[in-house]
Amino acid sequence: MNHLIAPSILAADFANLQRDIELINNSEADLIHVDVMDGMFVPNISLGLPVVKAVYKHATKPLDVHLMIVQPERYLKDFKEAGAASITVHYEACPNLHRTVQVIKELGCKACVAINPHTPVALLEDIILDLDMVLIMSVNPGFGGQKFINNTYKKLADIKALKRRYNPELLIEVDGGVDETNIAKLSEAGANVFVAGNAVFASPDPTATIANLKHFDNLSRS
Ligand code: DX5
Ligand code: ZN
Repeated sequence: MNHLIAPSILAADFANLQRDIELINNSEADLIHVDVMDGMFVPNISLGLPVVKAVYKHATKPLDVHLMIVQPERYLKDFKEAGAASITVHYEACPNLHRTVQVIKELGCKACVAINPHTPVALLEDIILDLDMVLIMSVNPGFGGQKFINNTYKKLADIKALKRRYNPELLIEVDGGVDETNIAKLSEAGANVFVAGNAVFASPDPTATIANLKHFDNLSRS
């Protein structure tokens, strides 16, 4: 199993965040996905720097910070200092994307670019060489618990072709509506980092669900 599981704490219990971070620490999860929303780039406000710092204090797994904010270049250093191991910025939010990606890397973070469901993968062609990871949004960003958009499979095929051509080491993350029923097909299509919010935290046994996502091969055979 060389894919990575990144539970999204957007679906955790914010009043018991330490408990839910420890649940992830003690699970087979690989990363902790942290969704930062500003009420501008997306129509929702989630959490900011003080919460990322508090999460980092308790986390034993790397923080995968997903910035759904306008002009994310204003805050890259702050999120690095708050504990981000990887920083994801949106293609749609960055007029000077190449510069933003270089700054993320200079800070010592993994650099990832996310694209919304309407943004063609082809627009990443001239930046893909500089990236550690691409995030394909499989819902419109802003909320957890939304319905998975099927066109994601086509986008994964497109990004897989670019990866093969330009950057074979590229990680491909998929975010939104990922669960035990679609993870095998998403993996087949090329994704290797899986964000899961509701699938994990709304399940009766989040630890077992994380294990099922990590071992989906066994799941589909049984
Ligand atoms: C949506 C966020 C996601 C969200 C996924 O804007 O980027 O990370 O937490 O939640 P689920 O897995 O419930 O769709
Ligand atoms: Zn996210």
